Amino acid sequence: MGEGGEDRGAKGRASEDRASEDEAGDVGGSEKGGQHQEGSASAAGPALARLPMEHWDRWVDEALSHLSAKNLVRSARPINLSSSTDLSEELETYDCPGRWDRSSVEIALEDETFRQWLRELPSPTGDEVRNENGELPGKLILFSGNDYLGLSTHPAVRMAVSKVAIEHGMGPRGSSLICGYTNYHRLLEASLAELKKKEDCLLCPTGFAANMAFMSAVGSVSSLSVFGRKPSKEERVVIFSDALNHASIIDGIRLAERQREVKVFIYRHRDMRQLNILLSCCKIEKKVVVTDSLFSMDGDFAPLMELVHLRKKHGFLLVVDDAHATLVCGENGGGVLEMYKCENDVDVCIGTLSKAAGCHGGFIACSKKWKKLIQSRGRSFIFSTSFPVPIAAASYVALVVARKEKWRRREIWRRVSEFRTLTGLPVTSPIISLIIGSEEAALLASRKMLMSGFHVTAIRPPTVPPNSCRLRITLSAAHTQDDIRKLVDALSRCIKLPIVARDEGQLSSKL
Ligand SMILES: Cc1ncc(COP(=O)(O)O)c(C=O)c1O
Repeated sequence: MGEGGEDRGAKGRASEDRASEDEAGDVGGSEKGGQHQEGSASAAGPALARLPMEHWDRWVDEALSHLSAKNLVRSARPINLSSSTDLSEELETYDCPGRWDRSSVEIALEDETFRQWLRELPSPTGDEVRNENGELPGKLILFSGNDYLGLSTHPAVRMAVSKVAIEHGMGPRGSSLICGYTNYHRLLEASLAELKKKEDCLLCPTGFAANMAFMSAVGSVSSLSVFGRKPSKEERVVIFSDALNHASIIDGIRLAERQREVKVFIYRHRDMRQLNILLSCCKIEKKVVVTDSLFSMDGDFAPLMELVHLRKKHGFLLVVDDAHATLVCGENGGGVLEMYKCENDVDVCIGTLSKAAGCHGGFIACSKKWKKLIQSRGRSFIFSTSFPVPIAAASYVALVVARKEKWRRREIWRRVSEFRTLTGLPVTSPIISLIIGSEEAALLASRKMLMSGFHVTAIRPPTVPPNSCRLRITLSAAHTQDDIRKLVDALSRCIKLPIVARDEGQLSSKL
C-alpha cells in the first residue's frame, strides 16, 4: 500500500540542511554586496523598523496596477446555470450518527485483493494470510482516511451531488477564467469566505493547486512592484517556511524560487526562537511566513499564537494551510483561526475540501486584492480546469451540514480523548503518528493491523525522513468508542504502547 496523497516530498532532513546553510549564510549577515552589516544572529536582532501590514496591501496594489498597465489583470467569468435545485431547501440534518456514517469508515475487500495487499507487506512467517481464527477479515475499519467528520457519505451531500449531476452533468468544461465559474462555485466561495472570516475566497482545482497558485503569485510580487527593472536584493520577497510543511507548499515555494526574486528560509519544525532570529536578521521587507496549521504526518499544531505575536513584531504576511483543521477545530468548524480566535491576524488561509468536507477541491480565503493577484498570476489556478459543478454543490452542502451538525466535532474530539485515555499517549488531534523506526518494522506493524481488520497505513520515505517510519492513524466522528477500543487492543498486540487504562480488561497489552 502506498502513502496516498500525503507525500511531503523532499522535506525533513533535506530541508533542515537547507535551514542551517541559510542561517550561516545570508541571514547571519554574510551576504555579499555589503547589504547586511550585522555580524551575528541574536534573538533580539537588529533594530528593525517594524512594518505595518498595510505595506503588503501597498505592494499587492503596486503589483496589480503594473499588471493592469500591461492589460494582464484577469478575473473569473461568472456563469449562471439555471437551476431548479435550491441547495439550502433540500437539506436534511441529523442529531446523531446514522447508518450511512458506517460506510465512511468501513471498507470491504475481495479475498484476492486482501491477499495481494498482504503480499506487498513483509511477513516474518512466510505467506500467512489468515488471522487467529483462520479467516480473512473481509471487512476493514478505515483508520487512515481524512474524512474526519464522515461527511463523504452524508445523505445531504449525496443528494446534492446527484441532483446537480442529473440537472447539469459534470461541467465545468474549462478553467474559471474561461467557463468554469458557475453560481455553485460562487456560492461555495462565499460560504468559505464567511467560515474563514475573510473578505473573499478563490477556489482552486485541489488543495495542492491552491498552495502552488498562492506561492507563484507571491513569487511575482517583487518584480511586479518595481516593474521594468530588476528588484534589488532588499526588494525581493523572503519566505520563511516550517520544515515539516506539506509537499504542496514546498513545491509552490520551489516554483516561486524559479522566479529568482524570492529568498527562502526553512525554519526548524515549530521553532519560534529560530524563526524570530531569522526574521530579526533579515533586511528584506517583503516577508512571508507559511505554515501548516495541523501537521498532516505528525498531528501536532503550529504555535499559532506565537506566530501571531511574531507577525506583530516583524510585520510579515502570515499564511496558514488549514487543510486538516478546517471543520474539525473551532466551535463552528472555522479551523485553527477560529480555535485561537485569530482570524484578523492570519492574512491568508489556504485549505482543501478533500479532508473534513469529504469532497474535493482547494481554496484560498484572502482579501479581494490577493484574490485578484492570484487569479492573474497563480499558474495552477489559471491553467487548470475548475472542479466539477456537482462537487461544488456537494462541498457547499457539506459546509452547511458541518455547521449544523455540531455533534460531529464533539464526537471526533471524544474519540481523540478516548484514544489518549486508553493508550496514555499525549495525542492532541485526530491525526496520530506512532513512530516505529525502520521501514520494515512499520510495514510489519501495518500488516498486523491489516490482519486484525484495520486499515492503518505505514508512512515511509520520502513522505517522512528515513528511520522515522510510522503508523499514521486518523480518527473520524464516524468511528465509535468500540472501534477505538478494538483499535487500541490490536495496536497493543503489535507495537509497544504505554497502556494506562485497561477498560474492562479488554486490552491485552503485552507490556
Ligand atoms: C496540509 C495539506 N495541504 C494541502 C494538501 C493537498 O490537498 P488536496 O488533497 O486537496 O490536493 C494536503 C493533502 O494531503 C495537506 O495535507
